[in-house]
Amino acid sequence: MAETATLTFNGTTLELPIVTGTEGERAIDIRHLRNATGLITLDSGYGNTGATESSITFIDGEKGILRYRGYPIEQLAEHARFTEVAYLLMFGDLPTETQHTEFRRQLSENQFMHEALTHHFDGFPENAPPMAILSAMVSAAGCFEPALARADDDDHFLELAARLMSKVRTIASASYCKSIGHPINYPRSDLRYTANFLHMMFSLPFRPYEPHPVVVDALDKLLILHADHEQNCSTSTVRMVCSSRASMSAAVSAGINALWGPLHGGANAAVIDMLEKIRRSGESIKTYVERVKTDPNTKLMGFGHRVYKNFDPRAKIIKEACDSVLQKLGIQDPMLDMAMELEAVALQDDFFVERKLYPNVDFYSGIIMRAIGIPTNMFTVMFAIGRLPGWIAHWREVRMAAGGRIDRPRQVYQGPVARDFVPVENR
Ligand code: SDX
Repeated sequence: MAETATLTFNGTTLELPIVTGTEGERAIDIRHLRNATGLITLDSGYGNTGATESSITFIDGEKGILRYRGYPIEQLAEHARFTEVAYLLMFGDLPTETQHTEFRRQLSENQFMHEALTHHFDGFPENAPPMAILSAMVSAAGCFEPALARADDDDHFLELAARLMSKVRTIASASYCKSIGHPINYPRSDLRYTANFLHMMFSLPFRPYEPHPVVVDALDKLLILHADHEQNCSTSTVRMVCSSRASMSAAVSAGINALWGPLHGGANAAVIDMLEKIRRSGESIKTYVERVKTDPNTKLMGFGHRVYKNFDPRAKIIKEACDSVLQKLGIQDPMLDMAMELEAVALQDDFFVERKLYPNVDFYSGIIMRAIGIPTNMFTVMFAIGRLPGWIAHWREVRMAAGGRIDRPRQVYQGPVARDFVPVENR
């Protein structure tokens, strides 16, 4: 007999079906609730609401588990390349050698921007936020690449995905070069995805940048760790935009804007700003932590998570990588020592323990990006480059869903009740 939940209201009893996921998660299926009872549910912030069933990423927030299509994040970060993980997320399985080679070929074939697009950069002020440029240019790329603006074309999905993944990397590096008055670099055909990005970011006409293997591996690992995270704010945004049958570039452009917020993808830069502010003020870590506890407007950036009520497994991996990258590159960054002291103080403080606040993916990621030479204002762009295959995978999952309906949540209205118009002379 199928499991149900019983709802009794106003003399009506309703048996609501229970949906069980492959990892044993259970949900009350309320798809027929309003028709049967006239009731809707209310859950601002969606902390208790499943928006969809999905097969892409599994998170167990209590146990600190994260798996992409069933593969533990620890194993993917250790053994896979970012392009393999991108393929896994989008298609459901790790690519064979042939499939991976074809995907990489598509990425290389599509890494150029339409020359007319490069002139758009001149329209931005030098201090334009890179996330604003990225979002605008992804939308603009859709105008020059009709394929990106095509909605229902799964036959060309691999090419579409490769186009967007490759363009975003080129656009991101170009926006950085323009922001510091450097010429835009063209991609090199002899470099793989991540190394090519670093080349396009840092090469100069008189001094080509040769990506250091330690730096390439560190950035590749960071991109893997950011590649997907189930129904987070920006991914849910991409899914909602996709549900209206908008194009992949339109949905991704919306996702970039959602990621930009300091409570979401903007937190990696906010962590460094926070550490720098503490260092400049000369106040002790303990004093700052006391301020966080007493001032509701002061957050410990890089701490806390809606889902993880234990360690964010990505934070653990990045913290370990921090030590190794800084050591291999011979870099002493006082920020790392400060971050580790901040973590130690917070994790022994009841305020954080009671609220189950632990370091999240953003707490240490900025320290690695600083070591690589990426400027703080590009940190969230790096998050977007990493998250892109996840967004594309979710776009495809929505697009391929049989009988896909447009997302349209309901509300509980709390405004004025019906009233008649008042002519201005009587107001
Ligand atoms: C990402 O969803 C995802 O999966 C996101 C992400 C992904 O990969 O896509 O993991 C990436 O966005 C990571 C989070 C990055 N943001 C930050 O580091 C910003 C700082 N963190 C907080 O703003 C907060 O923890 C959130 C936004 C991450 C989560 O917010 P919630 O779930 O709404 O937390 P909450 O407000 O319900 O917090 C519960 C309590 C509250 O205190 P009380 O009202 O109970 O007294 O904990 C407090 C909060 O004020 N709290 C914090 C805190 N986070 C929560 N207090 C101080 N510092 C913090 N960081």
